[in-house]
Order: sequence, then structure tokens, then C-alpha cells
Amino acid sequence: MNTNDEKMVILGGVPLHGEVKISGAKNSAVAVLVASILVKGKCVIENVPRVSDIYDLIGIIKSLGCEAGFVGDDVVEVDCTNIKTHVATGAAVRKIRASSYFMGALLGRLGRASVDLPGGCDFGVRPIDLHLKGFKALGAESDIEYGVVNIRADRLTGDTVYMDVVSVGATIDVMLAAVLADGMTVIDSAAKEPHVVDVANFLNSMGANIRGAGTDVIKIRGVKELHGGMFSVIPDQIEAGTFMIAAAATGGDVVVNNIIPKHMESLSAKLEEMGVGIDEYDEAIRVYVDKPELRRCNVKTQPYPGFPTDLQPQMLVLLTKAKGNSTMTENVWENRLQYVGELNRMGASITVEGGDMAIVEGGTPLTGAPVCAKDLRAGAAMVIAALMARGVTEIYNLKYIDRGYEDFEKKLKSLGAQITRRCVNPMPEVLKAAK
Ligand code: EPZ
Repeated sequence: MNTNDEKMVILGGVPLHGEVKISGAKNSAVAVLVASILVKGKCVIENVPRVSDIYDLIGIIKSLGCEAGFVGDDVVEVDCTNIKTHVATGAAVRKIRASSYFMGALLGRLGRASVDLPGGCDFGVRPIDLHLKGFKALGAESDIEYGVVNIRADRLTGDTVYMDVVSVGATIDVMLAAVLADGMTVIDSAAKEPHVVDVANFLNSMGANIRGAGTDVIKIRGVKELHGGMFSVIPDQIEAGTFMIAAAATGGDVVVNNIIPKHMESLSAKLEEMGVGIDEYDEAIRVYVDKPELRRCNVKTQPYPGFPTDLQPQMLVLLTKAKGNSTMTENVWENRLQYVGELNRMGASITVEGGDMAIVEGGTPLTGAPVCAKDLRAGAAMVIAALMARGVTEIYNLKYIDRGYEDFEKKLKSLGAQITRRCVNPMPEVLKAAK
């Protein structure tokens, strides 16, 4: 069934208890899969989450004449030795943001790329100017025709690329284009997100020479060829954060397993500031609430190691529970507070100022309502709100949530959540406009 035709039905008010295992990072896996295009040989990639963005990407990679597919629960094999085309176009390419990585990978491997302008969740303009600026510095020319980006280079030669804005996508894309280029490429003001480091580790394990990933300056010395091998994707920082916030929001006690606690520091610090209990272990964090009230706090999203924009909606939901007024400032995306109306429909009292700051009046109890997932992380936020709310919430537009959360309901159910998925028939009038 198409997930457009399904809804989640959640009976709120049950504190989450138990242990949950976090899947591989969606945003790392999507980049690693596309990076396999640069490799002559078989790449065996472990810890890949079964989410719709991954299935879409596998389909696109196969359409290039490569072999790709799941060979185990979380293992994907990709072999692009006999890649046949530099053209990646079609509905799947236009749907996901990670298809921007085909630009760098195809350019690096074949010297040219024709890729539909990438899609992704809609929270304002999602430009690719920095990607193209980076390719140009390496000697490539590009134009955009009928929504397709055409990039070509007789020869790619390393140079210094300064990123005017810290961009995960542009940092990874330029890295992909530079791996097989002549000489040294330097990316200055690079993104430091864990998945940028993971992609560099993947490429290095296949024979690339990349240094400095995880710092502001990444240096890539071009190599002649990459060889096949095995790689395991890091745990999903955002899925982990979503469960940590859900545990706190329901007043529960949850051990979030299979994570890298260092990646969670900005969130752990904010939760502790609010009075949430945090116990850190080597590869797990326990989150629990043993106080009657949570304290207010102000949060600002920033590139890593700052508070992640991809946890902004989930955290905003938690702030509705704190005593006093809190603020949330979105510094990465221009229009990522568009879901606030859905929360207010559940009884929250949140106002948005200047488009990028939400002021939350805390201590307003939420009640169940029909609501829409406006994008992937806003969808996760609706689930958390529903788990906190009195009564039943119905969440529509599940296609967004399914893009990035593996076994979301199953994992929540194992923690005690009262949650099911049902057929939508028909969608309530009140939501048609919101959709
Ligand atoms: C990645 O998107 C993630 N997606 C996003 O997660 C995440 O929100 C974002 O990084 C920021 O952390 C994937 O990894 C697939 P950016 P990306 O380039 O790479 C500006 C999720 O929910 N910019 O780091 O597209 C841009 O406008 C998704 O999993 C330019 O100006 O984000 C934004 O303000 C949603 N020019 C800022 O940089 C460019 O050429 C950061 O964007 C590119 C970006």
C-alpha cells in the first residue's frame, strides 16, 4: 500500500520504558551508496537502514547500469564496475535530496554528469550553488537545462574551495568529485557532521586519500582508482535524538542503544539543562525523568557540533512541557517552522517571530487531534506530540516519516507506545488544506 493512504493512530499518555536499538544513519548511508559509484569493484555496506530514501537510491543506482541491492537485513552490495551512463534523471531523483551526490560521484567517475535538480523535504530554497562552485574550482563547467544539471570536465584538477555557508551536501559532493582528480583539493569551512566523516572513512577504506574530515579543513589528494571492500555505516544521530526526546517527553525511562554518545552531546546538554536525567555509557545513553517539572530553555540550531536542525521540531515539542517560556531559533533552514500550526492544533501555544524563532509557552497540555506530517522530522515531532497528548491523535502523510525512520512504530511499540497504522479512508477535510 502507498503510505499516502495510511495514517498512524496513537493513544497518548503512556511513558516510554525499555531499550531501543538505533539503526544505521540514513544521511550517511545515502551518501555512501552514491559514493560507491566511484569504486571499481564490489562494496559491501553494512548497517544500512531500510527506509524509502534508501530504496529510491538503490533504484537510481541500478538505472545507471550498476548492480545494487539488499543482500541481508541491513547489508547492501553495490558494484558499479560496469556503470553505463552519466545520466541520472526521473521521479526518484527529483524526490530526494541525496540525489545531489550523483553530481559529484558521476563527475568524478565519468567526467560528466546530467542529474535532475534534487528534491528533498520542502523547507524553503534548497540551493546547489556551492556544489557547482566547488566543481568549477576543480575545472568543471555546468549549466541547467529543463531542470537537469549538466556538468562536464575534460580533466578534474585539485584546488582550494571555500564554502561561504557550511554545507553538508556541498562538502560531501566536492569530496566525491575530488577523490579521483589530479593533485590536492582543499575544502575550507567544511561541514563537520558525523556523516561527512563517515563518507570520508568509507572512501579512505576503498583507497582514497582524505585527511581532516571532522575539522574545518578537508584535504583530498587524488588517487588513480578506488577498490571494493566492506564498510559499516555509523549509527543514526537523529534517530537516536528522536528517541531520547520521546523518552523525556513522555516522562519515561529509555536506554537508547547502538549509538555514539559523543554525537549526542549538544542534545544531552540541553536535556540536562531542562532537568532530564542522562546517563552515558560507551555505546548507549539512558534518558529518564525523575522530576515533577522540566525547566525552560532556549535552543539555537547550528551546524555540528551545534544543536542539529534535524532535531529542532522534536525538541520544540518537548519545550511545550517545560515550565515557563522557551525559544527555538532555526539558523540553518529559512522555513523549517512551518509545522507549528499542527502543534497548536493539539493545544500547544507557540508563536513564530521573523520566520526563524519560535516562542513556546510551556506547560500547555497537548490533546489528541488529526494532524499532518509536514516533512520527515516534523513528522517525527508529531509522533512525539501524540505520545505526550491526552486522547487519540491521527497522523497523516506518513510518506515523509517513512523516508527516514526504520521500523518506527515497531520500536515505539516495544517501549510501550500505543500506536498502530491504518488505512486512510477518507482523509478528514480539515487536513486537505494543510497537506
Ligand atoms: C543535509 O542536507 C541533510 N540531508 C539534512 O537533513 C540536514 O537538515 C542538513 O544537511 C543540515 O544539517 C542529508 O544529509 C541527505 P546543507 P543538505 O547543504 O546537505 C545552504 C533530514 O531531515 N546551502 O548542509 O541539503 C542551505 O540553504 C534532512 O534528514 C547553500 O546556500 O543541507 C542551508 O541553509 C533534511 N548553497 C545550509 O546551506 C548550497 O549549495 C545547509 O544546507 C547548499 C546549501
